[in-house]
Amino acid sequence: MNSLNFIELRNLYFEYKEENPIINNINLKIKKDEVTAILGPNGSGKTTLGKLIMGILRPTDGQVYISNKDILNMTLAQIGSKIGYLFQNPEKHFFSNTVEEELGFVLRLKGLNEDYVENQVEELLKLFQLEYLKKSSPLLISQGEKQRLAIAAILINDPEYLLLDEPTTGLDMERKDILIKVLKELNKKGIGMTIISHDHFFVEELFHRVINIHRGEIIYDQRI
Ligand SMILES: Nc1ncnc2c1ncn2[C@@H]1O[C@H](COP(=O)(O)OP(=O)(O)OP(=O)(O)O)[C@@H](O)[C@H]1O
Ligand SMILES: [Mg+2]
Repeated sequence: MNSLNFIELRNLYFEYKEENPIINNINLKIKKDEVTAILGPNGSGKTTLGKLIMGILRPTDGQVYISNKDILNMTLAQIGSKIGYLFQNPEKHFFSNTVEEELGFVLRLKGLNEDYVENQVEELLKLFQLEYLKKSSPLLISQGEKQRLAIAAILINDPEYLLLDEPTTGLDMERKDILIKVLKELNKKGIGMTIISHDHFFVEELFHRVINIHRGEIIYDQRI
């Protein structure tokens, strides 16, 4: 199972404006058990590529497959239940009054038992050093705290795969180390991940495969 392609992109093109391809014929197969990094300069198309994989943007041409299924035949919710996605600016997506409500929201929506929800929330607050903020508004905490909350909110849904767009933004070295440890643990448990990052230190610590994109094309693809 793990050696199968989890994500596959075939002849993928995307343009926001006509005749200006931002993603330019990308072909890519990503296996679940290989932690994959997508690197590239500002504006090279990394975030656009992530949004195409998540079905948030529709390709101008070409296909995206998740577990061999064309995502045109999947709802956003179905894609979201396969892949936990961290937006590049996650704070834009917070909507709850407190950190603990934000974290527990989806579990409560799923109708899970309140004791279970509270336990899960406490565990993740502790793991991401957010306990002292549980009654704070997610909109009023620091950028690093927002980033940790956003990652915790993804993990609470128990995703089988993670797609994280710049997860170390706003994190200091100590918090980056914690995040690396958490991600390594998750990977050991069989959770696959693709991480979009500028952060070379972070990449070196975690990855099995590094893909570099430039102007919407893959210019380097190396297993390390
Ligand atoms: N909504 C949009 N409408 C028009 N052009 C856009 C839009 N979003 C992004 N672009 C353009 O698409 C190109 C790729 O942007 P994208 O955000 O995918 O790059 P990125 O590699 O993630 O950059 P960064 O490293 O800064 O996060 C850039 O030239 C950007 O200006
Ligand atoms: Mg980006």
